[in-house]
Amino acid sequence: SAPRSDPEEPRISAYACQRRTPLDHLNKIFTDASEVLAENAEFSESEGRGLAFRKAGSVLRSLPFAVSRMEDLRGVPCLGEHSRKIIQEILEDGVSGEVEGVLRSERYRAMKALTGVFGVGVKTADRWVREGLRTPGDLLTSGHRLSREQEAGVRYYEDLNCPVTRAEADAIGEIVKEAVHSILPGARVTLTGGFRRGKEAGHDVDLLITHPEEGKEEGLLGKLTSWLDSQGVLLYQRVSEGSGGRGRESGPMDHFHRSFSILKLGEQPGAPPGPPQPGASSAGQTQEAASPRGQGGAQGRGWRAVRVDLVICPYSQFAYALLGWTGSQQFERDLRRFASQERDMSLNSHGLYQREQVRTPPPPHCISESSPPLSLSLSLSSPPL
Ligand code: GTP
Ligand code: MN
Ligand code: MN
Repeated sequence: SAPRSDPEEPRISAYACQRRTPLDHLNKIFTDASEVLAENAEFSESEGRGLAFRKAGSVLRSLPFAVSRMEDLRGVPCLGEHSRKIIQEILEDGVSGEVEGVLRSERYRAMKALTGVFGVGVKTADRWVREGLRTPGDLLTSGHRLSREQEAGVRYYEDLNCPVTRAEADAIGEIVKEAVHSILPGARVTLTGGFRRGKEAGHDVDLLITHPEEGKEEGLLGKLTSWLDSQGVLLYQRVSEGSGGRGRESGPMDHFHRSFSILKLGEQPGAPPGPPQPGASSAGQTQEAASPRGQGGAQGRGWRAVRVDLVICPYSQFAYALLGWTGSQQFERDLRRFASQERDMSLNSHGLYQREQVRTPPPPHCISESSPPLSLSLSLSSPPL
């Protein structure tokens, strides 16, 4: 694509982490289209094509004007030929034929419905679709063997596909805080993920937990989830033991102790949930069904199921963990890419490393919570952020 001719015109960075990206933006009609095409590519395991549409969506979200002519896109990076063709179609016809086709296709709809089940990835959904399954309800009637996670996913399908509100996220945060403080006074619970970015709704609640005295956080996750279980709040969990953040890893996945869980949230945000049902207080045991077929759901039941990620980190890594778990995914991806390609450094949720030292983390930098948001316009050679 041609560079902008006007040298005064600020260049738009190809790194999402160097672009201001407001929550509310002006190009939703285009970003909705690229989201559908990205999903559809991911559903056929075309990771490269999926990523290209994600990048296109991300740059469109950052534009301070509504795109109304193709010329508006001169010099805008991250827009490939295919994305530009879709934008042009929408500008000319109001919709993209290709996107409409995807939305109507039986395969896309079935993949969307089945990957919408907690615990079901693209590979599994694809196999089921080829076997003729279309909806989570079909899973029940077909008698397919489900993992414990997928069983919970089907049981709470409606609830888990109903967006979590900010108030619900705060209420979950309070429940977890109360539990954490009763176990380990002084521990800190921070809401991360989309809600930390200011989103009004999300698919889950991401909570990062630490204690200012390094080491105090060890063993906390088990105690926390036992406490939640004893209160009848823990509907499901899968724990990832990790190395407690003491491993030496690079790459996007971190090694914190964490629990991918489903918690029970009572009727009024902040209100304690109902008493545990006799014999049903253990995660994974039978609870009232949130049927995937329409009846059930949160209404009238007095509670709803909410997906919650609980992550424990040592205090010395808190800043990096907070940065890594705040998202968005595109921002995180480009932040790591920026560190690597522009600074010859390596960033993950545990720390920022000199390239040569990827396997030997430097002494941890402590970043106080009150420090200003990390800005990459700061020179990375300046003192620890
Ligand atoms: P919604 O939950 O849909 O509102 O969006 P979200 O941005 O909160 O997404 P999500 O909860 O999936 O993830 C929150 C952030 O945590 C994102 O930036 C992810 O990249 C990051 N994240 C999710 N899983 C992992 C993981 O296993 N390791 C690390 N390091 N980061 C993760
Ligand atoms: Mn989230
Ligand atoms: Mn999450």
